[in-house]
Amino acid sequence: TDGGATVTVHGDRPAPKFNKRIFGQFAEHLGTGVYGGIWVGKGSRIPNVDGYRKDVLDALKAIRTPVIRWPGGCFADEYHWREGIGPQAKRKVKINTNWGGVTEDNAVGTHEFMNYSELVGAEPYVSGNVGSAPPYEMAEWVEYMTSPTGSSLAKERAANGRKAPWKLTMFGLGNELWGCGGSMKPEYAADVTRRYSTFVKMPEGQRVMKIASGANSEDNNWTEVMMRDAAGAFDGIGVHYYTVPYEWSKKGAATGFDEDGWARTLAKTVRMDRIITDHSRIMDKYDPAKRVALLVDEWGTWYDVEPGTNPGFLYQQNSLRDALVTSLNFDIFARHTDRLRGANIAQMVNVLQAMMLTDGARMVKTPTYWVFDLYKDYQDGTVLPVDVQSRWYNKNEWVLKAVSASAVRGTDGAVHMGLTNVDPNQPATVSVKLDGVAGSTVTGRIITAATMDAHNTFDAPDAVRPVAFNGAALSGGTLTVTLPAKSVVMLDIR
Ligand code: AHR
Repeated sequence: TDGGATVTVHGDRPAPKFNKRIFGQFAEHLGTGVYGGIWVGKGSRIPNVDGYRKDVLDALKAIRTPVIRWPGGCFADEYHWREGIGPQAKRKVKINTNWGGVTEDNAVGTHEFMNYSELVGAEPYVSGNVGSAPPYEMAEWVEYMTSPTGSSLAKERAANGRKAPWKLTMFGLGNELWGCGGSMKPEYAADVTRRYSTFVKMPEGQRVMKIASGANSEDNNWTEVMMRDAAGAFDGIGVHYYTVPYEWSKKGAATGFDEDGWARTLAKTVRMDRIITDHSRIMDKYDPAKRVALLVDEWGTWYDVEPGTNPGFLYQQNSLRDALVTSLNFDIFARHTDRLRGANIAQMVNVLQAMMLTDGARMVKTPTYWVFDLYKDYQDGTVLPVDVQSRWYNKNEWVLKAVSASAVRGTDGAVHMGLTNVDPNQPATVSVKLDGVAGSTVTGRIITAATMDAHNTFDAPDAVRPVAFNGAALSGGTLTVTLPAKSVVMLDIR
């Protein structure tokens, strides 16, 4: 072989399931993430269903989007839900202080978001305002969304067009309380979390998963203090980790980068493994039974905005490099499903590492979208641990394994195996030993391209998309796979 990799799939040692919530999305009132990206309004000339653009809606359904987190992000801790209900013309117009200082007319509020989740078939993960609103406001919001009948809030909801309560399954107790959510120290945030959690109440017999605002990447002390002082007040805790190729002040471009930009981005993204490991270890100390879930409720690449666009809108292109960022993170997530039960890529449309980009009536699916499509059969499947022995890929000081892998026995009974070759110059031949996996046929799809920064544009929307893969052969319990340079492959073994 070319010294690629040897992989063993342990079909006989099933690990906890790959919770479908790990495929969660994030839609913040930021740039054109909501306005333009999801919502165009009922009178729009852009084809829409009740004001929601149809192309984006259909694309989200096609990848079985399981969760959408909303309304922020930083926006959440300045959001007042009452400003976004009732007749559109009467809704308060305010300034989006976090994102470009533009006006926010509250056209998308609770009804529009909750109805959208239902249309998509996704669970709503609503983030409450802990930073700048009293607990009473949060309590009333939850009651407005969930109370069955009779109460004044339920009547108000009905008068606004929605008689039956929505199904609220995930609720965030603020966002980044250490930063835009209130600049709190962890000890204070833990107390505040206990306090707000007390007043989030569901109708008799129902439960909502309460998710505490988590750490900024490597801030282990945050998780330590929150778990030590407040774990009883929540069912999950977040952590946010963004992949920034260079510095926050000069992050690097989404396209037109060189091999250094490629290698450092991928090497930085796989730090996710250590970040999850470290937070999980702390959680094990206070919660050995693993009752509390960890959710990477913001992740993805963060580049410099596209030249000429509003710096507050975080609009960036999305290339083959982002496809590999996605598959590498899914492989990492698969190693941590004992504790990791949710994730939300930032963000769904037109913001940061997006699934889709829109321009007026036009829409493109990004390479990231296609990896979500490739991996969608992982949703709620049983993780099969893999051992990967790979040669190293390195460029300058950036070193990582050339081959990454994960495997899941899907709810459809087939084994799905994701393989990534990060080396942009060399193919990798992978020998996969299938232990305890029965199967006689293998089919596959691949995402790759001629250049590292290949991407889809409104004029060439299909430059990067999956095609059939014929580079895998199965014989006597061993798969031999030739991964082209810079590629993501999904194999289905039946
Ligand atoms: O996703 C963009 C921003 O990143 C979010 O609003 C915030 O939570 C994080 O800092």
